Amino acid sequence: MATEESTAHGVAVQDASKPELVEGVAHEKPVVGIDETETPVTATELASRLQHLSLSAQTIHADDFLNSHQSVAPPMHVSTTFRYNDDPDELKPWTNINPNNPYDSHVYSRDTAPNTTRLEAVLTSILHGPALTYSSGLSAFHALLVYLNPRRVAITDGYHGCHGVIKVLSKLTGLRTVSLEADFSQLERGDVVHVETPLNPTGEARDLRYFAEKAHARGAWLSVDATLAPPPLQDPFAWGADVVMHSGTKYFGGHSDMLCGVLAVHPRHAGTWIPGLREERLVLGSVMGSFEGWLGVRSLRTLEVRVRKQSADAERLVSWLAAEARKGDESVVGSVVAEVRHASLQKEKGGQEGEGKGEGEKGWLKKQMPNGYGPVFAVYLRDADDARRLPSKLSLFHHATSLGGVESLIEWRAMTDAGVDKRLLRFSIGLEGFEDLRDDLVRGFEALKAERAKKDVAGKVAAGGANLIGGV
Ligand SMILES: Cc1ncc(COP(=O)(O)O)c(C=O)c1O
Repeated sequence: MATEESTAHGVAVQDASKPELVEGVAHEKPVVGIDETETPVTATELASRLQHLSLSAQTIHADDFLNSHQSVAPPMHVSTTFRYNDDPDELKPWTNINPNNPYDSHVYSRDTAPNTTRLEAVLTSILHGPALTYSSGLSAFHALLVYLNPRRVAITDGYHGCHGVIKVLSKLTGLRTVSLEADFSQLERGDVVHVETPLNPTGEARDLRYFAEKAHARGAWLSVDATLAPPPLQDPFAWGADVVMHSGTKYFGGHSDMLCGVLAVHPRHAGTWIPGLREERLVLGSVMGSFEGWLGVRSLRTLEVRVRKQSADAERLVSWLAAEARKGDESVVGSVVAEVRHASLQKEKGGQEGEGKGEGEKGWLKKQMPNGYGPVFAVYLRDADDARRLPSKLSLFHHATSLGGVESLIEWRAMTDAGVDKRLLRFSIGLEGFEDLRDDLVRGFEALKAERAKKDVAGKVAAGGANLIGGV
Protein backbone atom coordinates (compact mmCIF):
# COMPACT_ATOMS: atom_id res chain seq x y z
CA MET A 1 0.00 0.00 0.00
CA ALA A 2 1.19 3.55 -0.66
CA THR A 3 2.06 5.72 2.30
CA GLU A 4 0.01 8.85 3.05
CA GLU A 5 3.11 11.00 2.74
CA SER A 6 3.82 12.98 -0.37
CA THR A 7 6.54 15.24 -1.69
CA ALA A 8 6.05 18.84 -2.70
CA HIS A 9 5.17 17.46 -6.12
CA GLY A 10 2.54 15.14 -4.69
CA VAL A 11 4.35 11.94 -5.62
CA ALA A 12 4.37 9.22 -2.99
CA VAL A 13 7.42 8.97 -0.81
CA GLN A 14 8.07 5.45 0.33
CA ASP A 15 9.61 4.55 3.62
CA ALA A 16 12.84 2.84 2.51
CA SER A 17 12.76 0.45 5.45
CA LYS A 18 9.23 -0.69 4.53
CA PRO A 19 9.20 -0.72 0.75
CA GLU A 20 5.66 -1.04 -0.49
CA LEU A 21 4.16 -1.62 -3.83
CA VAL A 22 2.02 0.77 -5.83
CA GLU A 23 0.21 -1.44 -8.25
CA GLY A 24 -1.23 -0.62 -11.60
CA VAL A 25 1.51 1.06 -13.57
CA ALA A 26 3.72 -1.12 -15.68
CA HIS A 27 4.55 -4.34 -13.90
CA GLU A 28 3.55 -4.39 -10.25
CA LYS A 29 6.38 -6.48 -8.86
CA PRO A 30 9.42 -4.71 -7.38
CA VAL A 31 12.20 -6.01 -9.55
CA VAL A 32 15.24 -3.80 -9.22
CA GLY A 33 17.17 -4.84 -6.13
CA ILE A 34 15.11 -7.98 -5.67
CA ASP A 35 17.89 -9.54 -3.61
CA GLU A 36 17.72 -8.62 0.06
CA THR A 37 20.62 -6.16 -0.04
CA GLU A 38 18.81 -3.53 -2.07
CA THR A 39 15.54 -1.65 -1.76
CA PRO A 40 12.86 -2.85 -4.18
CA VAL A 41 11.78 -0.21 -6.62
CA THR A 42 8.26 -0.08 -8.03
CA ALA A 43 7.36 0.97 -11.52
CA THR A 44 5.56 4.03 -10.14
CA GLU A 45 8.71 5.08 -8.35
CA LEU A 46 10.75 4.67 -11.51
CA ALA A 47 8.18 6.60 -13.52
CA SER A 48 8.25 9.39 -10.92
CA ARG A 49 11.97 9.72 -10.36
CA LEU A 50 12.42 12.74 -12.65
CA GLN A 51 10.33 15.18 -10.60
CA HIS A 52 13.32 17.52 -10.24
CA LEU A 53 13.54 17.91 -14.04
CA SER A 54 11.50 20.13 -16.36
CA LEU A 55 8.15 18.99 -17.67
CA SER A 56 9.67 18.37 -21.12
CA ALA A 57 12.53 16.33 -19.66
CA GLN A 58 9.91 14.19 -17.92
CA THR A 59 7.74 13.75 -21.01
CA ILE A 60 10.81 12.70 -23.00
CA HIS A 61 12.43 10.41 -20.41
CA ALA A 62 9.94 9.17 -17.78
CA ASP A 63 9.37 5.97 -19.77
CA ASP A 64 13.09 5.26 -20.43
CA PHE A 65 13.05 2.46 -17.86
CA LEU A 66 10.57 0.58 -20.05
CA ASN A 67 12.79 0.75 -23.11
CA SER A 68 14.47 -2.63 -23.51
CA HIS A 69 15.24 -2.17 -27.22
CA GLN A 70 18.12 -0.17 -28.71
CA SER A 71 15.70 1.97 -30.71
CA VAL A 72 15.48 5.61 -29.66
CA ALA A 73 11.88 5.91 -30.80
CA PRO A 74 9.48 3.56 -29.00
CA PRO A 75 8.52 0.46 -30.97
CA MET A 76 4.86 -0.24 -31.60
CA HIS A 77 3.55 -3.55 -30.28
CA VAL A 78 0.31 -4.80 -31.78
CA SER A 79 0.14 -8.10 -29.92
CA THR A 80 -2.93 -8.70 -27.79
CA THR A 81 -1.39 -11.63 -25.95
CA PHE A 82 2.03 -12.49 -24.47
CA ARG A 83 3.79 -15.87 -24.23
CA TYR A 84 4.02 -17.52 -20.82
CA ASN A 85 7.22 -18.98 -19.36
CA ASP A 86 8.32 -22.32 -20.87
CA ASP A 87 9.12 -23.65 -17.41
CA PRO A 88 5.90 -25.01 -15.83
CA ASP A 89 7.36 -24.44 -12.35
CA GLU A 90 7.52 -20.72 -13.09
CA LEU A 91 3.81 -20.40 -13.98
CA LYS A 92 1.88 -18.11 -11.61
CA PRO A 93 -1.62 -16.84 -12.45
CA TRP A 94 -1.65 -13.28 -13.88
CA THR A 95 2.11 -13.03 -13.50
CA ASN A 96 4.19 -13.23 -16.62
CA ILE A 97 7.63 -11.73 -16.03
CA ASN A 98 9.39 -10.54 -19.18
CA PRO A 99 13.07 -11.53 -18.77
CA ASN A 100 14.18 -8.62 -21.01
CA ASN A 101 12.41 -6.02 -18.89
CA PRO A 102 10.43 -7.15 -15.86
CA TYR A 103 8.61 -3.79 -15.66
CA ASP A 104 7.28 -4.36 -19.15
CA SER A 105 5.50 -7.66 -18.45
CA HIS A 106 2.06 -8.41 -19.80
CA VAL A 107 -0.53 -11.18 -20.07
CA TYR A 108 -3.37 -9.85 -22.22
CA SER A 109 -3.86 -6.39 -23.69
CA ARG A 110 -7.29 -5.85 -22.05
CA ASP A 111 -5.24 -5.72 -18.83
CA THR A 112 -1.99 -4.01 -19.90
CA ALA A 113 0.05 -3.66 -23.10
CA PRO A 114 3.50 -2.17 -23.84
CA ASN A 115 2.51 1.06 -25.59
CA THR A 116 -0.20 2.10 -23.14
CA THR A 117 2.09 1.15 -20.23
CA ARG A 118 4.70 3.60 -21.55
CA LEU A 119 2.06 6.26 -21.90
CA GLU A 120 0.92 5.62 -18.31
CA ALA A 121 4.52 5.90 -17.08
CA VAL A 122 4.91 9.37 -18.61
CA LEU A 123 1.48 10.46 -17.34
CA THR A 124 2.32 9.22 -13.83
CA SER A 125 5.40 11.42 -13.85
CA ILE A 126 3.78 14.60 -15.15
CA LEU A 127 0.45 14.35 -13.31
CA HIS A 128 2.13 13.57 -9.95
CA GLY A 129 0.11 10.46 -9.21
CA PRO A 130 -0.19 6.95 -10.69
CA ALA A 131 -2.19 7.14 -13.91
CA LEU A 132 -4.35 4.71 -15.86
CA THR A 133 -5.48 5.20 -19.44
CA TYR A 134 -8.90 4.51 -20.98
CA SER A 135 -10.42 4.35 -24.42
CA SER A 136 -11.80 7.92 -24.13
CA GLY A 137 -12.31 10.71 -21.63
CA LEU A 138 -15.89 9.64 -21.04
CA SER A 139 -14.94 6.01 -20.47
CA ALA A 140 -12.44 7.24 -17.84
CA PHE A 141 -15.19 9.25 -16.12
CA HIS A 142 -17.51 6.24 -16.33
CA ALA A 143 -14.83 3.98 -14.81
CA LEU A 144 -14.29 6.44 -11.97
CA LEU A 145 -17.97 6.61 -11.05
CA VAL A 146 -18.35 2.84 -11.33
CA TYR A 147 -15.36 2.39 -9.00
CA LEU A 148 -16.33 5.00 -6.37
CA ASN A 149 -20.04 4.18 -6.73
CA PRO A 150 -21.26 7.37 -5.03
CA ARG A 151 -24.91 7.98 -4.18
CA ARG A 152 -24.61 11.63 -5.19
CA VAL A 153 -22.42 13.64 -7.55
CA ALA A 154 -22.13 17.39 -7.12
CA ILE A 155 -21.74 18.89 -10.59
CA THR A 156 -22.77 22.04 -12.42
CA ASP A 157 -22.18 22.90 -16.08
CA GLY A 158 -19.07 21.69 -17.90
CA TYR A 159 -18.78 19.17 -20.70
CA HIS A 160 -22.26 17.85 -21.48
CA GLY A 161 -20.97 14.30 -22.07
CA CYS A 162 -20.09 13.91 -18.37
CA HIS A 163 -23.71 14.72 -17.52
CA GLY A 164 -24.65 12.02 -20.02
CA VAL A 165 -22.51 9.44 -18.16
CA ILE A 166 -24.23 10.39 -14.88
CA LYS A 167 -27.63 10.02 -16.56
CA VAL A 168 -26.79 6.49 -17.70
CA LEU A 169 -25.55 5.53 -14.24
CA SER A 170 -28.56 7.08 -12.51
CA LYS A 171 -30.72 4.69 -14.54
CA LEU A 172 -28.74 1.77 -13.12
CA THR A 173 -27.92 2.85 -9.57
CA GLY A 174 -30.24 5.72 -8.67
CA LEU A 175 -27.22 8.10 -8.62
CA ARG A 176 -28.42 11.66 -8.04
CA THR A 177 -26.88 15.05 -8.80
CA VAL A 178 -26.47 18.05 -6.52
CA SER A 179 -25.54 21.57 -7.61
CA LEU A 180 -21.99 22.77 -6.95
CA GLU A 181 -23.61 25.96 -5.73
CA ALA A 182 -25.54 24.07 -2.99
CA ASP A 183 -24.26 24.03 0.60
CA PHE A 184 -23.38 20.30 0.26
CA SER A 185 -25.31 19.35 3.40
CA GLN A 186 -26.90 16.57 1.35
CA LEU A 187 -23.50 15.04 0.58
CA GLU A 188 -22.31 12.04 2.55
CA ARG A 189 -19.13 10.08 2.93
CA GLY A 190 -18.08 8.55 -0.38
CA ASP A 191 -20.05 10.99 -2.57
CA VAL A 192 -18.22 12.79 -5.37
CA VAL A 193 -17.74 16.50 -6.03
CA HIS A 194 -16.83 16.76 -9.69
CA VAL A 195 -15.27 20.05 -10.74
CA GLU A 196 -14.28 20.81 -14.31
CA THR A 197 -11.73 23.57 -14.61
CA PRO A 198 -11.31 25.43 -16.85
CA LEU A 199 -14.84 24.88 -18.05
CA ASN A 200 -15.87 23.68 -21.44
CA PRO A 201 -16.99 25.67 -23.45
CA THR A 202 -16.17 29.07 -21.89
CA GLY A 203 -12.60 28.42 -20.67
CA GLU A 204 -13.39 30.00 -17.28
CA ALA A 205 -11.80 28.53 -14.15
CA ARG A 206 -13.06 27.36 -10.77
CA ASP A 207 -11.35 27.59 -7.39
CA LEU A 208 -10.21 24.04 -6.58
CA ARG A 209 -9.12 24.65 -3.02
CA TYR A 210 -12.56 26.01 -2.19
CA PHE A 211 -14.27 22.89 -3.57
CA ALA A 212 -11.72 20.53 -1.96
CA GLU A 213 -12.49 21.99 1.46
CA LYS A 214 -16.24 21.84 0.87
CA ALA A 215 -16.07 18.24 -0.36
CA HIS A 216 -13.72 16.94 2.31
CA ALA A 217 -15.76 18.55 5.09
CA ARG A 218 -18.56 16.14 4.08
CA GLY A 219 -16.28 13.11 3.58
CA ALA A 220 -16.78 13.37 -0.19
CA TRP A 221 -14.08 12.97 -2.84
CA LEU A 222 -12.98 15.77 -5.14
CA SER A 223 -12.59 14.68 -8.75
CA VAL A 224 -11.26 17.25 -11.20
CA ASP A 225 -11.70 17.23 -14.96
CA ALA A 226 -8.52 19.11 -15.91
CA THR A 227 -8.79 18.48 -19.66
CA LEU A 228 -8.65 22.17 -20.63
CA ALA A 229 -5.53 22.88 -18.54
CA PRO A 230 -3.01 20.04 -18.71
CA PRO A 231 0.51 20.39 -17.31
CA PRO A 232 2.19 22.88 -17.11
CA LEU A 233 -0.95 24.98 -16.61
CA GLN A 234 -2.30 23.50 -13.37
CA ASP A 235 -1.81 20.68 -10.84
CA PRO A 236 -5.15 19.84 -9.20
CA PHE A 237 -3.45 17.59 -6.60
CA ALA A 238 -1.72 20.68 -5.21
CA TRP A 239 -5.19 22.10 -4.37
CA GLY A 240 -6.78 19.02 -2.83
CA ALA A 241 -8.03 16.81 -5.68
CA ASP A 242 -8.38 13.11 -4.91
CA VAL A 243 -8.42 12.12 -8.55
CA VAL A 244 -7.69 13.98 -11.78
CA MET A 245 -9.38 13.10 -15.03
CA HIS A 246 -8.41 14.12 -18.55
CA SER A 247 -9.80 13.64 -21.97
CA GLY A 248 -6.36 12.69 -23.34
CA THR A 249 -7.97 13.05 -26.75
CA LYS A 250 -7.24 16.76 -26.38
CA TYR A 251 -3.80 18.07 -25.30
CA PHE A 252 -2.11 14.75 -24.51
CA GLY A 253 -2.93 13.55 -28.04
CA GLY A 254 -2.51 17.08 -29.36
CA HIS A 255 -2.93 16.24 -33.06
CA SER A 256 -6.65 15.45 -33.36
CA ASP A 257 -5.89 11.82 -34.20
CA MET A 258 -6.47 9.67 -31.10
CA LEU A 259 -9.07 9.04 -28.41
CA CYS A 260 -7.79 8.69 -24.86
CA GLY A 261 -9.01 9.02 -21.29
CA VAL A 262 -6.85 9.34 -18.18
CA LEU A 263 -7.40 8.93 -14.44
CA ALA A 264 -4.53 9.95 -12.15
CA VAL A 265 -5.00 9.10 -8.49
CA HIS A 266 -3.55 11.07 -5.58
CA PRO A 267 -0.71 9.00 -4.07
CA ARG A 268 -2.60 8.79 -0.74
CA HIS A 269 -5.25 6.62 -2.47
CA ALA A 270 -2.95 4.80 -4.89
CA GLY A 271 -2.63 1.58 -2.92
CA THR A 272 -6.35 0.84 -3.08
CA TRP A 273 -7.77 2.87 -5.96
CA ILE A 274 -5.23 1.89 -8.62
CA PRO A 275 -5.57 -1.90 -8.20
CA GLY A 276 -9.37 -1.49 -7.93
CA LEU A 277 -9.66 0.67 -11.04
CA ARG A 278 -7.35 -1.61 -12.96
CA GLU A 279 -9.29 -4.73 -11.97
CA GLU A 280 -12.53 -3.08 -13.07
CA ARG A 281 -10.98 -1.81 -16.32
CA LEU A 282 -10.11 -5.40 -17.12
CA VAL A 283 -13.76 -6.37 -17.04
CA LEU A 284 -15.20 -3.13 -18.44
CA GLY A 285 -12.77 -3.55 -21.33
CA SER A 286 -12.34 0.21 -21.80
CA VAL A 287 -8.59 0.16 -22.54
CA MET A 288 -6.89 2.27 -25.22
CA GLY A 289 -5.61 0.60 -28.35
CA SER A 290 -1.85 0.09 -28.79
CA PHE A 291 -1.65 2.48 -31.74
CA GLU A 292 -3.27 5.22 -29.67
CA GLY A 293 -0.86 4.43 -26.81
CA TRP A 294 2.06 4.81 -29.21
CA LEU A 295 0.66 8.06 -30.63
CA GLY A 296 0.14 9.31 -27.07
CA VAL A 297 3.79 8.82 -26.11
CA ARG A 298 4.93 10.47 -29.33
CA SER A 299 2.66 13.45 -28.63
CA LEU A 300 3.51 13.88 -24.95
CA ARG A 301 7.15 14.49 -25.90
CA THR A 302 6.10 17.97 -27.12
CA LEU A 303 3.31 18.68 -24.61
CA GLU A 304 5.04 21.52 -22.79
CA VAL A 305 6.07 23.53 -25.86
CA ARG A 306 2.68 23.05 -27.46
CA VAL A 307 0.58 23.96 -24.45
CA ARG A 308 2.64 26.97 -23.37
CA LYS A 309 2.44 28.49 -26.86
CA GLN A 310 -1.22 27.62 -27.41
CA SER A 311 -2.15 29.15 -24.07
CA ALA A 312 -0.06 32.30 -24.57
CA ASP A 313 -1.47 32.88 -28.08
CA ALA A 314 -5.02 32.28 -26.80
CA GLU A 315 -4.51 34.90 -24.10
CA ARG A 316 -3.29 37.44 -26.67
CA LEU A 317 -6.27 36.73 -28.93
CA VAL A 318 -8.70 37.00 -26.01
CA SER A 319 -7.23 40.30 -24.94
CA TRP A 320 -7.35 41.66 -28.50
CA LEU A 321 -10.95 40.43 -29.10
CA ALA A 322 -12.14 41.85 -25.77
CA ALA A 323 -10.54 45.24 -26.52
CA GLU A 324 -12.13 45.31 -30.00
CA ALA A 325 -15.50 44.28 -28.55
CA ARG A 326 -15.37 47.26 -26.17
CA LYS A 327 -15.06 49.62 -29.18
CA GLY A 328 -18.54 48.57 -30.35
CA ASP A 329 -19.57 49.64 -33.87
CA GLU A 330 -16.30 51.53 -34.37
CA SER A 331 -14.59 48.18 -34.88
CA VAL A 332 -15.43 45.44 -37.36
CA VAL A 333 -15.01 42.95 -34.51
CA GLY A 334 -16.96 45.02 -32.02
CA SER A 335 -19.88 45.40 -34.42
CA VAL A 336 -20.38 41.62 -34.29
CA VAL A 337 -19.02 40.43 -30.90
CA ALA A 338 -21.11 40.77 -27.74
CA GLU A 339 -18.84 39.15 -25.15
CA VAL A 340 -15.58 37.20 -24.75
CA ARG A 341 -15.14 34.61 -21.98
CA HIS A 342 -11.86 33.12 -20.72
CA ALA A 343 -10.12 32.59 -17.40
CA SER A 344 -7.72 35.42 -18.28
CA LEU A 345 -10.66 37.86 -18.19
CA GLN A 346 -12.21 36.45 -15.06
CA LYS A 347 -12.78 38.98 -12.30
CA GLU A 348 -9.35 40.59 -12.50
CA LYS A 349 -7.85 37.12 -12.19
CA GLY A 350 -9.24 36.85 -8.67
CA GLY A 351 -12.30 34.70 -8.69
CA GLN A 352 -15.84 34.22 -7.68
CA GLU A 353 -15.97 31.05 -5.69
CA GLY A 354 -13.42 30.91 -2.96
CA GLU A 355 -11.20 33.13 -0.95
CA GLY A 356 -8.98 35.41 -2.94
CA LYS A 357 -11.92 37.30 -4.38
CA GLY A 358 -10.74 40.72 -5.44
CA GLU A 359 -7.10 39.91 -4.82
CA GLY A 360 -6.32 40.52 -8.47
CA GLU A 361 -3.08 38.94 -9.64
CA LYS A 362 -2.51 37.53 -6.17
CA GLY A 363 -5.85 35.70 -6.12
CA TRP A 364 -6.48 31.95 -6.26
CA LEU A 365 -6.66 31.88 -10.04
CA LYS A 366 -3.11 33.11 -10.58
CA LYS A 367 -1.88 30.59 -8.01
CA GLN A 368 -3.90 27.74 -9.50
CA MET A 369 -2.89 28.57 -13.08
CA PRO A 370 0.58 30.12 -12.79
CA ASN A 371 1.67 29.30 -16.33
CA GLY A 372 -1.30 30.47 -18.38
CA TYR A 373 -5.07 30.31 -18.57
CA GLY A 374 -5.54 27.70 -21.28
CA PRO A 375 -5.99 27.64 -25.06
CA VAL A 376 -9.83 27.47 -25.09
CA PHE A 377 -12.17 30.44 -24.91
CA ALA A 378 -15.68 31.41 -25.98
CA VAL A 379 -17.07 34.33 -27.93
CA TYR A 380 -20.73 35.28 -27.86
CA LEU A 381 -21.77 37.15 -30.99
CA ARG A 382 -24.62 39.65 -30.94
CA ASP A 383 -26.56 37.51 -33.39
CA ALA A 384 -27.06 33.72 -33.56
CA ASP A 385 -27.15 33.69 -37.37
CA ASP A 386 -23.76 35.46 -37.49
CA ALA A 387 -22.39 32.81 -35.11
CA ARG A 388 -23.57 30.10 -37.49
CA ARG A 389 -21.99 31.87 -40.49
CA LEU A 390 -18.65 33.16 -39.15
CA PRO A 391 -16.78 29.80 -39.15
CA SER A 392 -17.30 29.44 -42.92
CA LYS A 393 -15.52 32.78 -43.47
CA LEU A 394 -12.24 31.65 -41.84
CA SER A 395 -9.40 29.84 -43.54
CA LEU A 396 -6.96 28.99 -40.72
CA PHE A 397 -9.60 27.86 -38.21
CA HIS A 398 -11.22 24.55 -39.08
CA HIS A 399 -14.90 24.48 -38.27
CA ALA A 400 -15.03 21.33 -36.16
CA THR A 401 -15.73 20.09 -32.67
CA SER A 402 -13.04 19.08 -30.13
CA LEU A 403 -9.99 20.99 -28.95
CA GLY A 404 -6.36 20.61 -28.01
CA GLY A 405 -4.88 19.93 -31.45
CA VAL A 406 -2.09 21.78 -33.24
CA GLU A 407 -4.73 23.13 -35.65
CA SER A 408 -6.91 25.97 -34.41
CA LEU A 409 -10.59 25.06 -34.29
CA ILE A 410 -13.73 27.12 -34.05
CA GLU A 411 -17.10 25.56 -33.34
CA TRP A 412 -20.56 26.98 -33.53
CA ARG A 413 -21.23 25.11 -30.32
CA ALA A 414 -24.90 24.45 -31.11
CA MET A 415 -23.63 21.81 -33.56
CA THR A 416 -22.88 19.35 -30.73
CA ASP A 417 -24.40 20.81 -27.56
CA ALA A 418 -28.17 21.08 -27.73
CA GLY A 419 -28.42 23.08 -24.50
CA VAL A 420 -26.02 25.88 -25.39
CA ASP A 421 -26.67 29.54 -26.30
CA LYS A 422 -26.86 29.68 -30.11
CA ARG A 423 -24.68 32.80 -30.21
CA LEU A 424 -21.71 30.96 -28.75
CA LEU A 425 -18.55 30.15 -30.71
CA ARG A 426 -15.89 28.03 -28.97
CA PHE A 427 -12.26 28.59 -29.95
CA SER A 428 -9.41 26.14 -29.47
CA ILE A 429 -6.11 27.78 -30.32
CA GLY A 430 -3.48 25.72 -32.12
CA LEU A 431 0.09 26.49 -33.08
CA GLU A 432 -0.34 28.75 -36.13
CA GLY A 433 0.63 31.93 -34.27
CA PHE A 434 -1.17 34.99 -32.91
CA GLU A 435 -0.75 37.35 -35.89
CA ASP A 436 -1.94 34.85 -38.51
CA LEU A 437 -4.95 33.85 -36.44
CA ARG A 438 -5.85 37.47 -35.64
CA ASP A 439 -5.63 38.43 -39.34
CA ASP A 440 -7.76 35.44 -40.31
CA LEU A 441 -10.39 36.56 -37.79
CA VAL A 442 -10.34 40.16 -39.05
CA ARG A 443 -10.88 38.91 -42.63
CA GLY A 444 -13.68 36.65 -41.37
CA PHE A 445 -15.47 39.44 -39.51
CA GLU A 446 -15.10 41.73 -42.56
CA ALA A 447 -16.52 39.04 -44.86
CA LEU A 448 -19.41 38.51 -42.47
CA LYS A 449 -20.13 42.23 -42.35
CA ALA A 450 -19.96 42.51 -46.15
CA GLU A 451 -22.31 39.54 -46.53
CA ARG A 452 -24.73 41.09 -44.07
CA ALA A 453 -24.61 44.45 -45.88
CA LYS A 454 -25.32 42.70 -49.20
CA LYS A 455 -28.24 40.85 -47.65
CA ASP A 456 -29.62 44.07 -46.19
CA VAL A 457 -29.46 45.73 -49.62
CA ALA A 458 -31.10 42.69 -51.24
CA GLY A 459 -33.74 42.73 -48.51
CA LYS A 460 -34.46 46.42 -49.10
CA VAL A 461 -34.66 45.90 -52.87
CA ALA A 462 -37.04 42.96 -52.34
CA ALA A 463 -39.10 45.03 -49.91
CA GLY A 464 -39.08 47.92 -52.40
CA GLY A 465 -40.15 45.53 -55.16
CA ALA A 466 -42.91 44.15 -52.99
CA ASN A 467 -44.11 47.66 -52.25
CA LEU A 468 -44.01 48.38 -55.94
CA ILE A 469 -46.00 45.25 -56.70
CA GLY A 470 -48.29 46.02 -53.79
CA GLY A 471 -48.75 49.49 -55.20
CA VAL A 472 -49.77 48.30 -58.66
C1 LIG B 1 -13.80 18.77 -20.46
C2 LIG B 1 -14.04 17.48 -21.18
N1 LIG B 1 -14.17 16.35 -20.47
C3 LIG B 1 -14.39 15.16 -21.07
C4 LIG B 1 -14.51 15.07 -22.44
C5 LIG B 1 -14.78 13.74 -23.07
O1 LIG B 1 -13.63 13.24 -23.66
P1 LIG B 1 -13.61 12.19 -24.87
O2 LIG B 1 -14.17 12.89 -26.06
O3 LIG B 1 -12.17 11.82 -24.98
O4 LIG B 1 -14.48 11.05 -24.41
C6 LIG B 1 -14.37 16.22 -23.21
C7 LIG B 1 -14.51 16.14 -24.68
O5 LIG B 1 -14.72 17.13 -25.35
C8 LIG B 1 -14.13 17.45 -22.57
O6 LIG B 1 -13.98 18.59 -23.25
